[in-house]
Amino acid sequence: MKKLTLALSALALSISASTAFASCESGEIVAKLSHVTGGTTHPKVVAANQFAERVNTEMNGVMCVEVFPNSTLFGDSKELEALLLGDVQILAPSLSKFGSYSPKYGVFDLPFIFKDMDAAIRFANSEAGKGLLNEMQDVGFVGLGYWMSGMKYFSANKPLIEPSDANGMKFRVQTSDVAKAMIEAMGASPQPMAFAEVYGALQTGVVDGQENTWSNIYTKKFFEVQDSVTETNHQLLAYLFMTSSEFLDGLEPEVREQFLKIADEVTQQANEQVKAAEAENRANILEAGGKINTLTDEQRQKWVDTMKPVWKQFEGEIGADLIEAAAGS
Ligand code: LMR
Repeated sequence: MKKLTLALSALALSISASTAFASCESGEIVAKLSHVTGGTTHPKVVAANQFAERVNTEMNGVMCVEVFPNSTLFGDSKELEALLLGDVQILAPSLSKFGSYSPKYGVFDLPFIFKDMDAAIRFANSEAGKGLLNEMQDVGFVGLGYWMSGMKYFSANKPLIEPSDANGMKFRVQTSDVAKAMIEAMGASPQPMAFAEVYGALQTGVVDGQENTWSNIYTKKFFEVQDSVTETNHQLLAYLFMTSSEFLDGLEPEVREQFLKIADEVTQQANEQVKAAEAENRANILEAGGKINTLTDEQRQKWVDTMKPVWKQFEGEIGADLIEAAAGS
């Protein structure tokens, strides 16, 4: 019986450090990769696992990546601090979560700034976008690349067809001043909240709605506790795949080079796969009985007209040049 209990707890441990693929061998540099998303079809889950798999195969004996999904190691209110403390080595947080470190990432949050994900990828690969990768170097953060997640859509406990339908409602947002201003422009009230708490808050009515990608709405089952999702396409969700300068600078030059090469290749692959993952998860929502509201051009224009004044509000802190570069991508 004791043997069985031991075997079961060993199994539970290996599942909770799940997707770590290989257990790390002694002598290997261990890099913990923590993130908040879940399921199997989510773009961040797929990219994080691909990164771990490649490091664990190609750098076997030298480095080992362990992936902790679903906020099991750190949730999004603690993970950046944990990176600086050396309790985790790799993260991929949403660019909307860096407000207290740099206002410039707010450019990615501006409503309707990117026509679609291709435009966002073009901006990420441009000089202006690449320049932002190391915007937080003085803090000790190193950007390895941008991982796109998808465009965002509003869901709520009633159909939202025009922005005025959201009047007086409460929406969960990430910790982004741009997102807060955008919700206020709709005559609604923003409630910043950690990702892990969103399902419960929707279910219990602490908030009436939220905004997210098809992949998050599907893998976290938000659609089950909402009336419907409206295809607003109003904003981008993207991640900064990142490490700390302490971790990177501590690697031997050839180890660092191989690590950075894999990081770069996985980033490119992730951005090539993302549209298909989003389309798959949109279809998954419909198949699971979720409802999606589409908009006519006229209805969509009302969302644009309501939210676009937010750009001017943040021009001072983001910079007019950066806004222009992103909008022209
Ligand atoms: C959110 O908090 O809604 C997202 O940033 C979660 C994620 O990482 O996709």
